[in-house]
Amino acid sequence: MKFSTFYFSGTGNTRWAVETFNAIISAKGHQATMVSIDFGEKLTDDQILEMVRAADGIGLAHPIYGGGLPPIMSAFIDRLVRLLQPEKLDRKTFVINTFGYVNAFGPNEMKKMLADSGLVLSGYVNIQLCNNVNPAKPVDREQLHKRMAKGEAELTRLADRLLAGRKRIKGHGPQLLIGAMIRKKVPDAIARHYQTLGVHAETCTRCMVCVDNCPTGSIRFDEAEGFTFLPGCTACMRCYNGCPTGSITMNGTYDDPQEVPRYLGPVE
Ligand SMILES: Cc1cc2nc3c(=O)[nH]c(=O)nc-3n(C[C@H](O)[C@H](O)[C@H](O)COP(=O)(O)O)c2cc1C
Ligand code: SF4
Ligand code: SF4
Repeated sequence: MKFSTFYFSGTGNTRWAVETFNAIISAKGHQATMVSIDFGEKLTDDQILEMVRAADGIGLAHPIYGGGLPPIMSAFIDRLVRLLQPEKLDRKTFVINTFGYVNAFGPNEMKKMLADSGLVLSGYVNIQLCNNVNPAKPVDREQLHKRMAKGEAELTRLADRLLAGRKRIKGHGPQLLIGAMIRKKVPDAIARHYQTLGVHAETCTRCMVCVDNCPTGSIRFDEAEGFTFLPGCTACMRCYNGCPTGSITMNGTYDDPQEVPRYLGPVE
């Protein structure tokens, strides 16, 4: 069998989950591919359709933002559903999401989103890893490694079920009510996140890593205007965490990387 996954990963957790799933599938003698939906990948409609046509199972993988989907992933699923409507390819579909503390987005919502596409939800798993959103609270690596081991076990169960032609649909996270409350507030903050970002001119080397790596192409630089952050930002924290000199500011605050370590993903 062949599984192809479209994924978004701001800081590496979701990419790790998909790579782990794919390694499990390959070790069982099947094929697994993955493709990032980042703006920089410039995925064309034809490439997306070709991937779906050529696969037996389609994966959608994303982190949980505000108890829901990151805007970049919602936009991708809308696009996928629109592209698939004429053909209605009935591919088995599975969702892998990663989260830090509360996961409220669930299989029922995903089923509704996929309703007109022909894609059939056969797998849905929540993998708790760590929170990448609060710079003041460094990631507990010991806890993260324990969660990665649990995550790998869950991804193995998912792979086994999909290969056996059976479903594995795990529900909402344990704190649905808190998640539902977060969902009311966070989307607004995500939409306004670009307004909080800036660049600390004293330490910035103008290497353009942030511009090149932004998954939504939301950082612009020109000599006259300097850096501009644009509304398409999906609030992924990649620019903040990935700047080699720690020069991305939030709400005008520069966090010295010696004092506030950045999160560079689960595999150090
Ligand atoms: C804007 C934003 C909102 C988030 N909201 C939630 C949330 O509601 N619940 C949660 O458990 N984790 C939340 N997180 C944490 C991420 O879901 C978690 O760190 C995820 O594993 C990151 O995956 P990635 O490294 O693939 O981007 C949020 C992270 C960001 C950047
Ligand atoms: S990644 Fe950091 S140092 Fe490089 S241009 Fe962006 S803000 Fe400046
Ligand atoms: S501007 Fe920064 S936080 Fe926003 S999408 Fe780009 S990399 Fe992510």
